[in-house]
Amino acid sequence: MGPLTPELSDAVADHMNIRRGEVHEVVSFYSFLRVPVDAVRVCIGPVCDCLGAKDVLAREQEQANGVPVLGVECLGHCDLAPVLLRGDTVEPEVTYRANDGPSTGLAGWDETLADYEARGGFEVLRDLPAPERIVEELKASGLTGYGGAGFPTGIKWEAVAREPHPRYVVVNADEGEPGTIKDRYVMERRPYLMLEGMLIAMRFAGAEHGFVYLREEYGTARARLTQAIDELRQAGHLDGVAVEMVVGAGAYICGEETAMLESMEGRRGMPRLKPPFPSEVGYLGRPTLINNVETLAHIPAILRTGGEAWPHVRLWSVSGAVREPGCYEAPVDVTLRRLIDEHAGGATEEIGAIVPGGAASGILPPAALDAPLTRDALREWDVGAGSAGVQVFPKSYSPLRLLAETMRFFAEESCQKCTPCRIGNRGMHHLLQELERGRVAMSREQAEEWLDAMAATSICGLGQGAPFPMRAAFRYWPELFAPLGEPSRMA
Ligand SMILES: Cc1cc2nc3c(=O)[nH]c(=O)nc-3n(C[C@H](O)[C@H](O)[C@H](O)COP(=O)(O)O)c2cc1C
Ligand code: SF4
Repeated sequence: MGPLTPELSDAVADHMNIRRGEVHEVVSFYSFLRVPVDAVRVCIGPVCDCLGAKDVLAREQEQANGVPVLGVECLGHCDLAPVLLRGDTVEPEVTYRANDGPSTGLAGWDETLADYEARGGFEVLRDLPAPERIVEELKASGLTGYGGAGFPTGIKWEAVAREPHPRYVVVNADEGEPGTIKDRYVMERRPYLMLEGMLIAMRFAGAEHGFVYLREEYGTARARLTQAIDELRQAGHLDGVAVEMVVGAGAYICGEETAMLESMEGRRGMPRLKPPFPSEVGYLGRPTLINNVETLAHIPAILRTGGEAWPHVRLWSVSGAVREPGCYEAPVDVTLRRLIDEHAGGATEEIGAIVPGGAASGILPPAALDAPLTRDALREWDVGAGSAGVQVFPKSYSPLRLLAETMRFFAEESCQKCTPCRIGNRGMHHLLQELERGRVAMSREQAEEWLDAMAATSICGLGQGAPFPMRAAFRYWPELFAPLGEPSRMA
């Protein structure tokens, strides 16, 4: 895809008989519509940064030979860090270890539909319980959305079932949260499992049309899903329903569910005010059930075992300073120490900081290694569970740099709609850069006021969540902020 040159953009507008500015407005929002297909995109997210991405970027720029080379935010391949995308090819090449994860649930590999059916695939869909039973089982399982917000899945499904037809189902496969690779693992390894979960959701909601909104950078997942959807169609599993893939164009914010709907409707991916929630007013104004890839992939197992008996598990992406970065299935109350030592092969160096669940989840000190990673337990540490994208940073990587990179990420990826988010993230990034240089750009009190304003008045989770890592750093590394002066009483 891309680039849509100004001439092409004008031609599209003329052809569609709409204002040229309308097309330009959309094109300018999405990085994949602006940059040539063969561009080299070097990931400069925190994990890649910590493992030498800036050197990779410099090397690629030196050898560019006329091909554009860009530093980009998380490419969703943190297990391979430092990583880049050359055109649509990931480097280094993706490899999976034979023993990746336990084989209880989402791990393993289904090459074809026959493999999946040999493991009992589509039995649940064939014999689907009544909608009320499904809601009961989901509630009993305790499943909460694994896209990051953690909303109880049973309650969301119940809400959609109360709304009038027609209804839609959308799978959120945008996975842009730094450190998060789990949905990619599911789609590349077990695409049929996610699709069975999606078809269960469609049958439950009485939706005739379902969509998978997939991030552009996931070429392998796209190929696997395309093949899987074709096989399902041929096998008759899609009779009477349509399943369509919508490929994003390189904007992290489109993972936010209402921004995703805007994007699907052909506009800039800018979040909508909630309420109304997508379950009431979603795609094309109709009630829409939106779930994350992993959330849906757990649903066949929940309905098979019954909600009470389901071992409350989730997929943990573990990357950074560990011997075997990857994606591991483990209970929701696993500790960081167990994830790192028993699943990810142990730390490569002394640990200095851990990000437990993606950029906005906050930053933890090594003292938290034995805390269970449940939402409730993490609240006491002033951090969130987010998308379970655990990033482990060595002591040699300065927490100030980690924080500066995180705030840069938010500043780059803000859709710019709300002033506190647009200005606040830039301001915090500037403050941290100045601190790294030993300079003071604002007082601690001012910084806290900015963070309060961002949390209270931004309209979506990006601006509301961005203060978390700053506040965690104030609490766990106060010495870094000593040059800013005394904290206010509110800190
Ligand atoms: C800035 C931002 C980015 C998000 N990115 C994703 C994403 O990439 N994938 C995802 O499933 N949910 C993402 N979410 C959460 C979605 O808005 C939504 O809660 C989720 O798709 C609902 O599915 P679930 O209940 O199964 O988690 C994001 C939220 C925010 C605020
Ligand atoms: S909080 Fe930030 S990302 Fe979210 S709508 Fe406002 S400006 Fe856009």
